Amino acid sequence: MKTIIEPFRIKSVEPIRMSTPAQREAHLRAAAYNVFQLRAEDVLIDLLTDSGTAAMSADQWAALVRGDESYAGSRSWYRFERAVRDIFGFRFVLPVHQGRAAERILFGTVCRPGHVVPSNTHFDTTRANIEYTGARAEDLVIAEGRIPSARHPFKGNMDVDRLRALIAEVGAERIPLCMLTVTNNSGGGQPVSMANIREVSAVCREHGIPFYLDACRFAENSWFIRIREEGYADRSPISIAREMFSYADGCTMSAKKDGMANIGGFLATNDERLARTETELLILTEGFPTYGGMAGRDLEAISEGLYEALDEDYLNYRITSTSYLGEHIAQAGVPIVQPPGGHAIYIDAAAYFPQVRPLELPGQALVVELYREAGIRAVEIGTLMFGRTDPLTDVQTPAAMELVRLAIPRRVYTQSHVDYVVEAIVNIWRRRAAVRGYRIVEQMPFLRHFTAKLEPLT
Ligand SMILES: Cc1ncc(COP(=O)(O)O)c(C=O)c1O
Repeated sequence: MKTIIEPFRIKSVEPIRMSTPAQREAHLRAAAYNVFQLRAEDVLIDLLTDSGTAAMSADQWAALVRGDESYAGSRSWYRFERAVRDIFGFRFVLPVHQGRAAERILFGTVCRPGHVVPSNTHFDTTRANIEYTGARAEDLVIAEGRIPSARHPFKGNMDVDRLRALIAEVGAERIPLCMLTVTNNSGGGQPVSMANIREVSAVCREHGIPFYLDACRFAENSWFIRIREEGYADRSPISIAREMFSYADGCTMSAKKDGMANIGGFLATNDERLARTETELLILTEGFPTYGGMAGRDLEAISEGLYEALDEDYLNYRITSTSYLGEHIAQAGVPIVQPPGGHAIYIDAAAYFPQVRPLELPGQALVVELYREAGIRAVEIGTLMFGRTDPLTDVQTPAAMELVRLAIPRRVYTQSHVDYVVEAIVNIWRRRAAVRGYRIVEQMPFLRHFTAKLEPLT
């Protein structure tokens, strides 16, 4: 069979409330053209994020009932720790309420002003948590990874020559750790090859720099390695995942992605001394080390979800259905990051609206149009998210790319929902010349895109 179907049946449904164009216009105005400020019930198809939005399986719901809510040493914790050790292989596991808590504990422990932390591309919360400590976050993705139309099987790879040059320039002692984000979310959801993970790990070991994986989408990355990298076609996703982590000294994980859970995460390491210091911070801000900001039932849902994310039928459907969206809009001429990523399709908004300059937020213009046209919520990953406004001079710097991400929640939408999204994007594409940009009227110094207020340019 050529048709790849959703490898599940639907047991419980959540109604979607239809809306009219006039209602959506009013909602946009009330949200100051920032879709983070919309009520979710006013959204028809929510592609804001794949984070924490997965539909849980019957087995996960059943596991919730097994949740042991004991404060210390709960049965659910030991199950969680066993699952994480089994798949990720690290000795010390610190449970946290979500990925950024792992980042805050890790960077808060190892980073100081003057330090530099390289990655392929830091995710926004990762960058913000590094910069909050006074350290610098450096993106070293390969050149192809910065060109949306460039085709490369592993566009999330790090440029190892640039890593070596950075180490030579700043000195290994100022690099407390090096990261690779798998898959590379802010760079288009593009995978990192096993060869690149191995090579970056070797360079780090040579200089005594701890090497970490930002593991949010480790299962999707494993699948890409299996289908695109020589020598992995017959390997199971779990064995590929285990190999990936064998090259690392630790990882941060948001279980809201490939943990198939609605909340949760962990920080893991092989370094006992570091784990002890991190545990002190964990107790201070997250909770006791055997629950760390999660309920026992969350620990259960994740323990189950981590294995479900590695299921071959699921991964085949997941990666194929994401590329279905990308290929259909690309066929209509819409410029997307090629090839389609794992969890999301990224539209190149700078190419979509060439008449809108980067500082006029072409990505946000497309995000607004998607909601206006069809009640679809997407997210800008461009100048609104990563651009800068100097607080003293008001001088604005644009981001390197102007992308719009359509993130696909796991196991939530069917093919007809995706067909609806394709139709909306193509409709906007046909009237694209008339679209204008936006200006920021209010913003915060960190993670401004969540709360910024915007105004359409006339
Ligand atoms: C690559 C990456 N790292 C870190 C995070 C942060 O995780 P959380 O939202 O659970 O704090 C995310 C979330 O989207 C992410 O995509």
